[in-house]
Amino acid sequence: MTQEFSHLRPDSAGAILADAAARPAATEADAVVVFLVAGEVGSGAIAEIDAATGGVVSRLVSAGEITGKRYECVPLLAPPGLRTGQLLIVGLGPRTDVDAGVLYRAAATAARQLAGRPRTRVAFVADGWWSTREMEQAVAGAAVGMVGQDLYRAEKKRTPFATTVWLSAPPEAVAHGVIIADGVNLARRLVNMPAEDLYPQTFSEEAAAVAGRTGMEIAIWDESQLVRERCQAILAVGRGSSRPPRLVILRYRGPGVRDGAPDVAFVGKGVTFDSGGLSLKPSDSMLTMKCDMSGGAAVLAAAATIAALKMPINLVAVVGLVENMTGPAAYKLGDVITARSGTTIEVHNTDAEGRIVLADVLDVVRGFQPGRIVDAATLTGACMVALGHDVAGLFANDQDWCDRVARAARSVGEPVWQLPMYPEYDDQIRSEVADIKNVGDGRWGGAITAAKFLERFVGGIPWTHVDIAGPAFAEKPRPWIDGGGTGAFVRPLVELARGMG
Ligand code: BES
Ligand code: MN
Ligand code: ZN
Repeated sequence: MTQEFSHLRPDSAGAILADAAARPAATEADAVVVFLVAGEVGSGAIAEIDAATGGVVSRLVSAGEITGKRYECVPLLAPPGLRTGQLLIVGLGPRTDVDAGVLYRAAATAARQLAGRPRTRVAFVADGWWSTREMEQAVAGAAVGMVGQDLYRAEKKRTPFATTVWLSAPPEAVAHGVIIADGVNLARRLVNMPAEDLYPQTFSEEAAAVAGRTGMEIAIWDESQLVRERCQAILAVGRGSSRPPRLVILRYRGPGVRDGAPDVAFVGKGVTFDSGGLSLKPSDSMLTMKCDMSGGAAVLAAAATIAALKMPINLVAVVGLVENMTGPAAYKLGDVITARSGTTIEVHNTDAEGRIVLADVLDVVRGFQPGRIVDAATLTGACMVALGHDVAGLFANDQDWCDRVARAARSVGEPVWQLPMYPEYDDQIRSEVADIKNVGDGRWGGAITAAKFLERFVGGIPWTHVDIAGPAFAEKPRPWIDGGGTGAFVRPLVELARGMG
C-alpha cells in the first residue's frame, strides 16, 4: 500500500504501510517498536517477541530493567532471534489508563527517538486489543513524532523513516492515521514558520494550495473585499502592519451530503504575528508570537484532513488573518470600531486583538447559518494562568455542544476544561462610549471576559470557543514532540466531524 490516498503528505515524509499478516519476529527492519503494558509481558505482541528472543525481554522485566512505565523507551540492540538491529520497547503504563492519547504519545515518543538518525525501515507492532481509534492515533503519533521542527537547519535533528511498516494493523486504520498525522504536521509546519515568511497573504496561499490538493472550495478576501464586506474590525487590527489582512473561507461538502447550510463551522484566529500593537508586549512575551495563528492553522489542517478522509459532512472553515503591529496607521487605544455586525467596540488594549478579529469572522460565519460553531484561538494568557500549558479552555453558549467538543478532544487524548460563562461577566465588557470594550475590568477572569466578548457575535448559534494559548506551542521539547508548534486541536476537530453529517 502507498499513500496515494493522502494529498497532504510532503514528498520528504517517507512511506507508511500496513502489513497485517507479517510476524514481528520474522520482520526485517532497522528497528522494531513494540509496546509494553506495565506488568503484562506475558500476553500480546510483546509475548510473541519475548518467545522469539528466548525470553530475553521477560528476564529484563523480571530484573526491573524494563518497567513498562508510561513513555519509557528501552532499546535492545542486536536482539537474539529477531531480524532487526534494534528492538525498542515502549511503556504504556497500567492497562486501565491506556487510551488513544497514551498510544499517540507513546508511538510518537518512540518515533521521535528513532528519528534522531536516518533509518531505512522501522516496524511498529500494533496489538490486537487496541480499538480502531487507538490504532489510528498510534499510527498518527508515530508519523508526527518522526517529524522535527528545525525547518531552517541545514542539519536536521529528525529524519522521517524512509519506510514505516505497521504490523498487525488493519490497512484502513493505518491509512486514516497517516492522513490525521499529515494534518497535524501541516499545522505544526505553519505554526513554526516565522512571521516574516508566513503572513496573511502567504497563509492564504498555503490555504489555497491545501484546498487544491484536497478538493475544497476556497474564497480569499483581500483588503478591498474586506472593505466591501464591512470587516472594519479585521481591518482596524491589520492597519499597523505593512502586510494587509486576509480572510480565508473554505467549503467542504462530503460525498453524498445534501446541499444547504453547513453542519458545522470551524473558526480560527490567524494572527500571524502579535506584537501587541501600541499596547506593546515585552520582548519575552513577544518572542513566540508567530504562534498566534495556531487556531487558524488547526482549522485549516482539520478541514483538509476531513476532506482527505472524505468524511460525509458539510463544513465551512473560516480564518481571519492579520499581523498585529505598531506602524504609523496602527489602531489606537480609545478608538471605536464598528464591527461587521454593527456592534461598536471601544479599544482599551490593542493586545486584545484576537477577539476583535474574531468578531468579524464570527459574523461572516453566521451568514452561512451553520448548525454549530467551534472556534480555536490562542486568545488569552489568562487561560494559561488558569489551566497551564497542556489544557485548553472551553467556553460555550450551549452545554450539549460543549460536551461533544470535550468528548472529541478527550477521545484523542487532548485535555480540555470548561470555564463558566455566568451572565455577571457580561458587565465587565460594558463600555461608556461604545456597545462593548475589548478587555474586562482588570485582568481577573481574563479568559472568560474574552469568551464573553466573542459570544456577542455568534447570534445564538450553538457555539464553543476553545482557547488553545497553552497547548498550541511547546516552548520546550516533550518526550513525544520537539519544541514548537504542536498541532493542538487538529485531532479533536477531526474527531468532532465524525458522525456529524
Ligand atoms: N495572543 C495573545 C494570547 C497569548 C498569550 C497566546 C500567550 C499564547 C501565549 C493575545 O492576543 C493577548 O495578547 N492577550 C492578552 C489580552 C489582554 C491584553 C486583555 C493577554 O492575554 O495578555
Ligand atoms: Mn495580543
Ligand atoms: Zn494574540
